[in-house]
Amino acid sequence: MDDLIQQAAEDLAAAGKVAALTGAGISTESGIPPFRGKGGLWERFDPMEIAHIDAFTRDPARVWNILVKEMKKIVDSAKPNDGHKGLAKLEAMGKLKTVITQNIDGLHQAAGNTDVIEFHGTFAWQRCMDCSQKYETRSVDITEIPPRCSCGGILRPDAVFFGEMIPQDALWRSRQIASDCDLMLVVGTSAVVQPAALMPVVAKESGAKVVEINPERTPLTDEISDYLIMGAAGAVMNQIIEKLEQIS
Ligand code: APR
Repeated sequence: MDDLIQQAAEDLAAAGKVAALTGAGISTESGIPPFRGKGGLWERFDPMEIAHIDAFTRDPARVWNILVKEMKKIVDSAKPNDGHKGLAKLEAMGKLKTVITQNIDGLHQAAGNTDVIEFHGTFAWQRCMDCSQKYETRSVDITEIPPRCSCGGILRPDAVFFGEMIPQDALWRSRQIASDCDLMLVVGTSAVVQPAALMPVVAKESGAKVVEINPERTPLTDEISDYLIMGAAGAVMNQIIEKLEQIS
């Protein structure tokens, strides 16, 4: 692994425009469970039963009680880990410009990244299904489920449920960033959910290097990514930053 850490530091040092695509894996070290694999949320719940817009529309109270309240507890107390902080350091070093994240936890911004595309929306806000007014999640009173807007409408997370479109501006900007970068770091995603998993492909087709950081192989490995550093994001990012500081 040391060689690949050195390689990644050299590739970052040589790169002009670096982008990152992240997934739930980068937040596991902050106590937020992943969706798939061992201990994943979708091991406990059927995503089509509690994370699909039809399921929410059919029975918002059920989805609030099972998923949203649990997510609120976890996200409210989560703090950025070394994986997030490493990407923020890369921005501070003038290397990384944009983070495209599938995560709705706001931890990249909390770590200090200033250009974060929230591809699947955010959990930091709830939105009224009738008038679209937004409320900060931490201020939402959840004694009454589902919580309601002052207009009487039901509040829902301002995140993308299965069965919904990706916000157009997020999709458009992400494609632009992916086709414009010369190195994309892909950190902590199983790369099975579209269209997010397409971004490394767009980057590769535009001539960029694609570097994966994940303890496991993904469909990108050996197909799209130039190499995979098999390890946890926190430890790997710390080592890469240390090497990069030595060679920069
Ligand atoms: N560091 C790096 N990667 C990790 C770590 C870690 N500490 N721990 C786990 N991983 C990897 C896993 O090996 C897996 O490949 O992170 C990945 C997490 O995959 P998923 O749980 O499928 O998460 P993600 O890819 O973000 O899912 C995409 O699916 O359910 C929907 O909307 C949801 O945004 C989510 C999307």
